Amino acid sequence: MEIFKNPKALRQHLMDRRANQEKIAFVPTMGNLHAGHLSLVRHGLEKADAVVVSIFVNPLQFGAGEDLESYPRTLDDDIKQLEAEGAQVVFTPDADTLYPDGLTQHTKVAVPELADNLCGQRRAGHFDGVTTIVCKLLNLVHPDIALFGEKDLQQLLVIRKMVEDLAMPVQIKGIATYRAEDGLALSSRNGYLSPSQRALAPEIYRSLLGIGEAIRGGATDFLQLCRAAADRLEQQGFEVEYLEARRCQDLSAAQPGDKDIAIFIAAMLGETRLIDNLQINRY
Ligand code: PAF
Repeated sequence: MEIFKNPKALRQHLMDRRANQEKIAFVPTMGNLHAGHLSLVRHGLEKADAVVVSIFVNPLQFGAGEDLESYPRTLDDDIKQLEAEGAQVVFTPDADTLYPDGLTQHTKVAVPELADNLCGQRRAGHFDGVTTIVCKLLNLVHPDIALFGEKDLQQLLVIRKMVEDLAMPVQIKGIATYRAEDGLALSSRNGYLSPSQRALAPEIYRSLLGIGEAIRGGATDFLQLCRAAADRLEQQGFEVEYLEARRCQDLSAAQPGDKDIAIFIAAMLGETRLIDNLQINRY
């Protein structure tokens, strides 16, 4: 496995691979890798000759008071896991290299509307930070295909829109959320949970499943369903930021009869912010 810190050296290496007709898959991450990330790598290995994984805790997507400083950094362990999984290339740049003039002076890529909804409403500037770094990484790596987890479904939709609007020559592939046996979506932030919070956390997915079952069974009052589920979660100790049924196409409020919808949730459990979603395709 080749490890690069320097973008120029990475580019040269990938140019050589492309010259050898290799197809390249890309998995951007912020490190602290878990089975969800590794499943993206495995999908990449199925679809391409070489998988490039970036590990970069992107300061531009963290707001004031968020967990940039405490975000878990486990580079040595990440590299071991990637080596074992068979990834060919790892890119671990520094913030000073990617943002040489600082964060405020860097050109931004912003996707309107989709990025202003849900998480975007609570985390001002978050998605601009994500689209800016993903655009930059895609330009550096120049992959044929880039893989993202559906756990961050809003992020995936925002990135798809960016790639389409800017005619970027890459296929964006969403991969199903990787869940623990009890249903909790894997996330680096799960490590912040105390044992009792960890035991409670799967209630989020159980709520989504309950709403999904009701909708598939014909319920049409999405607002009421979501409000009742949010109330139950609040009683159990969660602080629900949002729990809403939205159209996947544009994240507007889902209406009865819509085909492609998802239930989105963000909730605080103590100091930990958890997000999840359930897609419901009613064709
Ligand atoms: O999903 C993530 O880990 C990050 O938002 C990403 C896509 C790597 C950009 O920093």
